[in-house]
Amino acid sequence: MVFGEGNVGAQVLLIGEAPGRLEDEEGRPFVGRSGVLLRELLAEVGVAEEQLFITSVLKCRPPDNRDPKGDEISACSGWLEAQVRLVAPLVICTLGNFALRLVRGDRVGISSVHGVPETRKVFGHTALLLPLFHPAAGLRSTQKRTLLREDLALIPGLLTEARAQH
Ligand code: URA
Repeated sequence: MVFGEGNVGAQVLLIGEAPGRLEDEEGRPFVGRSGVLLRELLAEVGVAEEQLFITSVLKCRPPDNRDPKGDEISACSGWLEAQVRLVAPLVICTLGNFALRLVRGDRVGISSVHGVPETRKVFGHTALLLPLFHPAAGLRSTQKRTLLREDLALIPGLLTEARAQH
C-alpha cells in the first residue's frame, strides 16, 4: 500500500492517480519517472518539500498500471477524505483527470480547467483547488510539461492569497 507522505501540517496537498511499479516497490508516492519530473518542477517554482503532503486517489497499484476502476476509487476514497480533513490544506492540487473528477464530483476534463484555481469544498473542507496535468502527461509532451510548470508556478501566489483570507 502507498498511503502518501509529507508534512501533516502542509499547506499544499497534491493528489495523483495511483501508485506505479516503483511506488509499489518502495511504498512511497511519486518516486518513479513522473515523480522525478514533478519534484524537479516543484523545486524550480520554489515550492519546498516541507510545504507538501503527496498522495494519490488509489493507495494500491492497479495491475499493469491500468486506469483505476470505479469500485477501486470508492474503496480508497475514505482514506483520501481522511487525509484532506487531517492535513486541512490551503491549496489542493489534483494531478490528472481521476483526482480532479473525484474531488469535483463531476466529469470535467483537465484540459479545459488546468491552471484555473477555484475555491471549492473538497470532502467538507474548503480550499483553493488548482487542477494540474498529471506529470506523466508532461513526460509524453513537452507542451504539457511547459503548461504543468506554468500551473505549478501559481502555487506560491495562491498560498499568499489563501493565507490573507485566513
Ligand atoms: N502517479 C501517481 O498518480 N501517483 C503516484 O504515486 C505515482 C505516479
